[in-house]
Amino acid sequence: MNKRSKKVLAVGKEARQMIGRTPANVVAVKPLEDGVISDFDTTQAMIYYLIDKTHRQSSKVFKVSKPRVIVGVPSTVTEVERQAVIDASKIAGARQVFIVEETLAAAIGSGLPIEEASGNMILDIGGGTTGIAVISLGDVVVDKTLKVGGDEMTQDILNYAKQKYNMLIGEKKAEDLKIALGSAMPLEEERTVDLQGRDLLSGLPKSVEISSIEVREAIMPTIETITQAAKDAIEETPPELVSDILVSGLYISGGGALIKNLDKFWEEHLKVPVRIVEEPLSAVARGTAEMLDHIELLERIQRGWDEYSLN
Ligand SMILES: Nc1ncnc2c1ncn2[C@@H]1O[C@H](COP(=O)(O)OP(=O)(O)OP(=O)(O)O)[C@@H](O)[C@H]1O
Ligand SMILES: [Mg+2]
Repeated sequence: MNKRSKKVLAVGKEARQMIGRTPANVVAVKPLEDGVISDFDTTQAMIYYLIDKTHRQSSKVFKVSKPRVIVGVPSTVTEVERQAVIDASKIAGARQVFIVEETLAAAIGSGLPIEEASGNMILDIGGGTTGIAVISLGDVVVDKTLKVGGDEMTQDILNYAKQKYNMLIGEKKAEDLKIALGSAMPLEEERTVDLQGRDLLSGLPKSVEISSIEVREAIMPTIETITQAAKDAIEETPPELVSDILVSGLYISGGGALIKNLDKFWEEHLKVPVRIVEEPLSAVARGTAEMLDHIELLERIQRGWDEYSLN
């Protein structure tokens, strides 16, 4: 956004391209961190931008000026954080706002039969958070949220370059490297790329060759943290539902699900079949869209939040 006029210049992928490259009057802002709002005004501007973009794309005949908005949040949000999402959406022009748990939305968006009397397990690795849930009869039975996710793996790579090569690399570089080479188990063909950064001692540019084996080593601690939480979740799941999961499998979604061989890694360490959902990055968004057709489910969820906040 433009620092002075506060005008949003770009959002999402387009804005990401500018990270670390903006002139003095333009700043790249991450309005959400660790799955919650870290900058209220920018979040509101972003939601406004998204609503406006939807309007520009839809036909002129069918234009909803004050739409209904559904937002997915980590299940551990506090009442204050949840209220902030509602307020930001309303100021941005929403007529009605529903807040849903990201894992539930991811499960629905992935086509899991959550209303049935069988256990469905979903693990959603986002940027700032990882959500793990076991869902049966439309309700979340076991639920865990970790404050680590894909962005933590990016930080792992930054730290690895610092410690091993005395080299400072940009956040976008580290993320690109993770996306290109990040894996949880050996690849059929391990790869190397040239990584450019700045030497921490001399301050001058430096380039090293880094391999997929090293990237795996760098991100492994975060993968292990998530693995432990998934084990805990399985342990807390009632035996009947565990036997369902042994058949249906663990579904993984979110951008982190695209780490190579993560499915194989978990099949080995969790002893359940693992399936990557179709288009993992948009599973939550697709789920929220589908929920629009299930207003009674949405209203039940909102009552759940309200009861929770009264306690
Ligand atoms: N192909 C890929 N391989 C590995 N990681 C990826 C890939 N594409 C995106 N990511 C990572 O996925 C994360 C973003 O995932 P996602 O969009 O699901 O998160 P989010 O829903 O915005 O965050 P949160 O759920 O924490 O609120 C980022 O850390 C990003 O680097
Ligand atoms: Mg998410």
